[in-house]
Amino acid sequence: MNAELQNIVTSPIRENLIRFEAVYRESLHSDVKLINTIIRYISRKKGKQLRPRLCLLSAGLCGEPTENTYRAAALIEMIHVATLIHDDVVDDANLRRGWPSINRVWKNKLSILVGDFMFSKALTNMIHLKDFDALDILSSTAERLSQGEIQQIEKAIKKNMTEKIYYQMVSDKTASLFSAACKLGVMTVTEDNDKREALAKFGEKFGLVFQIKDDLLDITGNVEGLGKPAGFDLKKNILTLPLIYLFENLPASEVKVVKRQLNNHVKKSEIREIRKLIEKHGGIQFAENQIDRLAKEAQDELNIFSDSVYKDSLLAALKFNSHRNS
Ligand code: IPE
Ligand code: IPE
Ligand code: MG
Ligand code: MG
Repeated sequence: MNAELQNIVTSPIRENLIRFEAVYRESLHSDVKLINTIIRYISRKKGKQLRPRLCLLSAGLCGEPTENTYRAAALIEMIHVATLIHDDVVDDANLRRGWPSINRVWKNKLSILVGDFMFSKALTNMIHLKDFDALDILSSTAERLSQGEIQQIEKAIKKNMTEKIYYQMVSDKTASLFSAACKLGVMTVTEDNDKREALAKFGEKFGLVFQIKDDLLDITGNVEGLGKPAGFDLKKNILTLPLIYLFENLPASEVKVVKRQLNNHVKKSEIREIRKLIEKHGGIQFAENQIDRLAKEAQDELNIFSDSVYKDSLLAALKFNSHRNS
């Protein structure tokens, strides 16, 4: 795992993460061997565990983590991994976290069912929180996640994406879960509404910059660094910020050519061409500027908190995202 993430971001919550891991594992247990085998396979490569980290750090910033803090962090990660499993089926991706994806190893049918199993486990575990506000947040987040993913497909077919719709879609499919992670972390330790709202907004903006960065890495990164396929969004006609910017800045006749290429099983050489076009017309720079702007806004949401190791770590996580290559 990335050293920066491991050190600055993690140092105040090292012990908490161990507890989180145990709760996560226990919450997912099943009596069916195949389920445990598949979940063990995906859990062996942990990923960045950014969302539970944000949940634990937000809790630490506002108080002393409780049993519900760990439950919430586990729930959030469970929902995240379930969406990744489904997302790889939808995208027909064959690599995740540097290993063959579940759909590659066990095929689509089992992937869908194991993803559903994880969502259902999240539902049962949610009840243990015994907190209606938390249930409200988690259930509406789950709804927004799938809504965002479906809207993405709708736009890939129609290719009429605007910047405004992109932001709304990313807010649904990614930022909602980041926001929920932070807000739930606070909710499990304090009733202070200002703190809850500040961290909910911090999480929302973090989620936006996280997805913009992910979309950018799909264009600029490579499979070795990412541990998942690169250039996939173009191949699957997923319209991300750099491409939207290109469409807005190219003459209509040239936009037509690119859209035609995308429609007709875009070839590798065409993907390379489109990448170059994006770069040439400033699409990469545009997305980077948006990351800087939103990261600054996210940072400002923490102004109400006095300095602490938790605040430092939350800001370091934000910085880590802006510079990450994987
Ligand atoms: C990938 O999330 C999905 C997006 C929202 C872009 P992560 O990059 O957090 O995935 P892992 O958990 O670290 O593998
Ligand atoms: C979708 O984003 C991730 C979810 C919110 C489910 P991506 O499709 O960009 O995620 P990766 O790139 O496959 O990890
Ligand atoms: Mg994907
Ligand atoms: Mg992606």
